[in-house]
Amino acid sequence: MVESLLSLQEIEVAYDQSVILRGVDIEVPPKQLVCLMGRNGVGKTTTLKTALGLLSPRVGKVFLDGEDVTSMAPEQRARKGIGYVPQGRDIFPNLTVWENLQVAIVVFGKSAKDELDRVFELFPVLKEMLSRKGGVLSGGQQQQLAIGRALLTRPKVLILDEPTEGIQPSIIDQIEDTIYALKKEGNMSIFLVEQYLDFAKAVSDRFYIMDRGSVVKHGTIDQLDDAAISQYLQV
Ligand SMILES: Nc1ncnc2c1ncn2[C@@H]1O[C@H](COP(=O)(O)OP(=O)(O)OP(=O)(O)O)[C@@H](O)[C@H]1O
Ligand SMILES: [Mg+2]
Repeated sequence: MVESLLSLQEIEVAYDQSVILRGVDIEVPPKQLVCLMGRNGVGKTTTLKTALGLLSPRVGKVFLDGEDVTSMAPEQRARKGIGYVPQGRDIFPNLTVWENLQVAIVVFGKSAKDELDRVFELFPVLKEMLSRKGGVLSGGQQQQLAIGRALLTRPKVLILDEPTEGIQPSIIDQIEDTIYALKKEGNMSIFLVEQYLDFAKAVSDRFYIMDRGSVVKHGTIDQLDDAAISQYLQV
């Protein structure tokens, strides 16, 4: 079996006394797009934060490209190849588009600068709006900026938390195209949290469904059946 690019093994996470993740196992194979699904509050973001190192598991391990990174800080994991686009996008609203991109360049240096052209090719609108403040961009443009900034760090695995949340339908199509294009380039694994089913089906290779802190189903995306959808995903 091919070794996973990102592997979460028997992860247990608690906030104070309340256990949030109960033995979560997730494998993200090289160059594949894996979608983590589930209703609000089941533990999707908590899972991503554990992969990134923003939360430490009480039990379990995180592997990145075969290396145990469980005790590594988020910055260290970022340098080792984890890119992150947080839920709610989290760009700097008072910095310009250019300054937002500079943040990655300051941290990652020349290699990030060399990626700029590729990012502008993927998101031409960013190039047109370099001097605009992040806060005046549309939701879809902010999402493109957040993804573009993450790409500058040349991640081995890109982690995206609900990129379509709060974004109008016409722009969702654009973001879908973008993620599809990233996937087709074929250099990166993508670990996506997404509740918008059509989008998830269109871009994913594999899925995991969580319910109350546990993985209850997983498989290839064509194995995602209507029974699972109505039991675990739709309200
Ligand atoms: N900082 C925190 N302290 C205590 N409990 C928290 C904290 N963050 C999240 N939780 C709780 O952990 C559970 C899982 O939250 P999480 O954000 O991982 O869910 P989610 O699946 O990402 O939900 P959503 O779809 O709404 O983004 C929820 O019950 C939430 O209330
Ligand atoms: Mg969440």
